[in-house]
Order: sequence, then structure tokens, then C-alpha cells
Amino acid sequence: MLARADTLTRNLFDIAQFDPLWRGTESVITGRLQGIPFRANICIPEYGAHIGRYYRSITAGSLAAMCGQSDISFIHDQFGLRIAFEEPVDIAIHEDDMVLENSVRALVARFGPVLFRNANIAGTARDRCHHTISPNLRFHTDRGPDMANRYSCFTRDSNDAEQREPRQSSTLFIANIVSWLQGVREGQCDPAIERGARMSLDLFMETQMASVLGDVILEQRWDAPIGTGEIAVIDNADILHATYHRNGSGVKGYRIGARYLN
Ligand SMILES: [Fe+2]
Repeated sequence: MLARADTLTRNLFDIAQFDPLWRGTESVITGRLQGIPFRANICIPEYGAHIGRYYRSITAGSLAAMCGQSDISFIHDQFGLRIAFEEPVDIAIHEDDMVLENSVRALVARFGPVLFRNANIAGTARDRCHHTISPNLRFHTDRGPDMANRYSCFTRDSNDAEQREPRQSSTLFIANIVSWLQGVREGQCDPAIERGARMSLDLFMETQMASVLGDVILEQRWDAPIGTGEIAVIDNADILHATYHRNGSGVKGYRIGARYLN
């Protein structure tokens, strides 16, 4: 086991190995962490083009102009990084100091949501979470812009009696600009005066979700086979998230683990 000083200076991941995904020259890359092979891919490549198409009646072909008008930056054109391990692995996303590990922080900055499959948090930090589920399709941030611990980390722990089962509800992720555009489309936001992203609003309540999942919304289903650990990390400054009861509003999944990291 590494001493704390070593883990502070050593990155879990070599960021450069994800460059082909960032550039769009590869759709899948492979690597190893602690000897365990993984495959990684982008969840929604060219996200900006998806957003531009879906909201073309509002954006008139220029997502950049809408970002300017709304005062919201859009920075994750390769949206969402999924890292799937071949075998179960415990990874030090954070330790007891609740500080997000350096290379995962860099991946979150580059790709937005970072999702791990077949992984649990390593060591005693594993249990440093509360359990939560938010209302259906209520898109929100967990932490305000002035809070230091602005990263949310959600977990499905493979050791937990409830969470070891696949979950009935998903977690949805959108870039801030999507919340603004969808709010405008639904008449909840006036584009002439609405600036920035709200901290909470109900969206897509009347939408056929199949038409938007994987297009303008990233869905983390938490439905890997029984006994599979899963982790999702986001920066609340750039991303809103919501619970989605994908099997009908009466079919509610269990509460997942949540923790906030500096
Ligand atoms: Fe939340």
C-alpha cells in the first residue's frame, strides 16, 4: 500500500492515454490500472453537434451565440468518459481528506462526467457517503458555485446488500447549456433575461425520453450485472444531474451513495 505522500504525487491515470478519444481519432482505447485491463470510450461524441441539431429552432445554427447570450460556457464536446474494467478494482478516487484524485479531476475537466464500471472506492474512504435519490427529472446541482467541494461522486457499492442489485432508476447528466435551452423550449426561461444555469428545475417531463437519451442527455443506468460496483464523478459547476425512473414514474430505484469532494 502506498503512503499518503506517494498517492498525492502519483496520478492514478496517465491522462495522455485518453488523447485519441479527446481528438476523436479512436472510438475505444484500452489500458490497465493496477494491472486490471480496462476499455474506455466517449459516451456522446461531438455533443455540441447533438445539442445544435436538437435545439436548432432556438440556436439558429449557432450554439456559440447561445452560449454568449446565456452567459454559459460549453466545454465538453466529447461528453462523458466511460471506463469499464474487466475485473473488479478498488480505486482511490479520494481518501479520507475528501480531495478528488488529480488525474480523475483532470479527466472530469476534460470530459465532464467520468463513469467507472466494475469499480469501488478504495480503502476506508469507501463508506464516506450518504445515500440519496432525488425527484424524477429534477435537474439540479448538489453544490453551489462558491462551495469548495464542488465535485459530486455517486456510487453503487458492490458490497451493499441493496446496491449490489442493478438499479431501476438512472442518473441523467446534461451540460449547463442544455438546461438553459430546454428551459427556453419549455417556456420556463425567457431567453431575453435568463442568464447562467439554474441550480434546480424540472425538465423533459413531457418528452419521449428515448429520443433524447444518448443525444442531449447522458444516461448512467446503474444496471451492470449483480455485484458490480459503479462510480460516477461530475463537477457541479458544469453539469446538472437528475434521477430518472426509466421503468415508469411508479418504479423507483434504491438510493445511491453520494459524496462531495474538494
Ligand atoms: Fe443530486
